[in-house]
Amino acid sequence: MAKVTRFSVSMEPGLLAAFDEQIARAGYDTRSHAIGDVLRAYLVGAEWQGGEGEVVGTVTLVYDPHAHDVERRLTDFQHQHHEAIACTTHVHLTEHDCLEVVVVRGSARLVSTLAEQIISSPGVKHGKLVCTAAVSRQP
Ligand code: NI
Repeated sequence: MAKVTRFSVSMEPGLLAAFDEQIARAGYDTRSHAIGDVLRAYLVGAEWQGGEGEVVGTVTLVYDPHAHDVERRLTDFQHQHHEAIACTTHVHLTEHDCLEVVVVRGSARLVSTLAEQIISSPGVKHGKLVCTAAVSRQP
């Protein structure tokens, strides 16, 4: 186990009770584990807002492969941005629906812009960007 630091925190009892109820519902084994996840989410958010350093995002898409020449256009787009697009996973969901997950890395601005362009492509029925970053490099 990694070295840990103990610290004390003061907060309103109602806030702590609500937090404890929520983390119990979510299945956390300890309050320390839950607070660690909250802090990492805060640090990832700061990376995205700060615009410094590299972040990574997954763009999840659902599209009809027969509509608007979407498959060819998405592939062309990914080739044009090959330095930022790390990989793609494709699942044939139904006869008329493909699920694709595109992993994009780079500055927050670049990842956000590429995700918007992918999601807004004609033929894409649904798309969502999930923002994250390498949290192990956080101090
Ligand atoms: Ni497919």
